[in-house]
Amino acid sequence: MIKKMTITSIKKTKGVRPLVMITAYDALFARLVEPSSDMILVGDSLNMTFAGKDDTLSSTIEQMIYHTNAVCMGAKNSFVICDMPFGTYINKNTALLNAIKVFQETPADCIKIEGGEDKAEIIKHLCDNGIAVCGHIGLLPQAVRSEGGYKVKGKTDEEQLQLIKDAKAVENAGAFCMVIEGVKAEIAAEITKCVDIPVIGIGAGADVDGQVLVFSDMLGFYEEFTPKFVKKYLDGATLVKDAVKNYADEVSTKTFPKKEHTY
Ligand code: KIV
Repeated sequence: MIKKMTITSIKKTKGVRPLVMITAYDALFARLVEPSSDMILVGDSLNMTFAGKDDTLSSTIEQMIYHTNAVCMGAKNSFVICDMPFGTYINKNTALLNAIKVFQETPADCIKIEGGEDKAEIIKHLCDNGIAVCGHIGLLPQAVRSEGGYKVKGKTDEEQLQLIKDAKAVENAGAFCMVIEGVKAEIAAEITKCVDIPVIGIGAGADVDGQVLVFSDMLGFYEEFTPKFVKKYLDGATLVKDAVKNYADEVSTKTFPKKEHTY
């Protein structure tokens, strides 16, 4: 049986081995990714990949709870992270009430919130009240509308200094690990060195404490756009389309079902 990671064992991997994180949104895929991952992230990216929206901003706490429960059912031995959607952690009290709702209505092991220094007080309040928190700094998908697009961070001295402040603030507030997204590799490496908790990169180069990818990107199911940082480990879209075409052809020509598929 797979040994489930804990906050303690996750922290202990720092400097020892890289962590593997992948997103999943349903029980079926969670079961498939469980054997090879340390942590499963139920990302609010599900609003794009699952619900077909243009960004993550309209996902709701109810959706996150529904999908987190599905993932936990499929991957009972996985450390599961529930992403807090846009608008659900605008202040300490709102954040705590919503995080408690997640903890009471799902078996999620922790929640993830986007933001650095500006969210430190909220992270501390959550941690002080028994909620384990994974931070998320750098490119923040929930800021896509306010920033007018997805912007790689760490290109200027000012941004680099802010990223370091963000990472330290997230750590000092009590987060046990953090995601760093869309950041120049050199600065992500520097940040990884200046905090004692694991830093999991996505589009942040190799010199971090682990990697996270969205499953539909890495398995090639999302055809519309492939970000530079994504490696496709499978051509899922082609495989699915070919298989469905095959099925359709066989239905049309009445070569399916055969005797062995018939009662
Ligand atoms: O929502 C998500 O899938 C994420 C990853 C991009 C880290 O936050």
